[in-house]
Amino acid sequence: MKVAIASDHRGYHLKERVITLLRSKGFEVFDEGPSSDASVDYPDFAALVAKKVGNGEAERGILICGTGLGMAIAANKFRGVRAAACADEVTAELSRRHNDLNVLCLSGDMLSSRSTERLVEIWMATEFEGGRHQRRVDKIHQLEQR
Ligand code: RB5
Repeated sequence: MKVAIASDHRGYHLKERVITLLRSKGFEVFDEGPSSDASVDYPDFAALVAKKVGNGEAERGILICGTGLGMAIAANKFRGVRAAACADEVTAELSRRHNDLNVLCLSGDMLSSRSTERLVEIWMATEFEGGRHQRRVDKIHQLEQR
């Protein structure tokens, strides 16, 4: 599976750890930057990942900023992207099973690297349930057409 990942300065160090984890699990990773923890603007990096997920170049995206919130707000401006900030394992799992979340947004400030790694493993491994949830996700897509 292809995964695009990016951060801002506050997510940079966690991004590097998540990339190492994903590659160790055999995922193909597009590192969309940044390449240091120098200050940047999170919407620029959210756009790089959201574009790749929206056009199908990557099946999943991961974005990390201070809270995860700004990244989610920016990524959701792209068609086909379903992005949300998840701070715990249950939300990460349900975001896949019910919402078919395709861009996971994380807090670089509030999550430990260990708990983040577990959260990412769960999110990457969990399948969308479809069924009644597919109908609801389809309705989200209809909202994008308006
Ligand atoms: C950058 O200072 C900070 O605003 C950003 O990392 C993020 O938390 C925004 O949602």
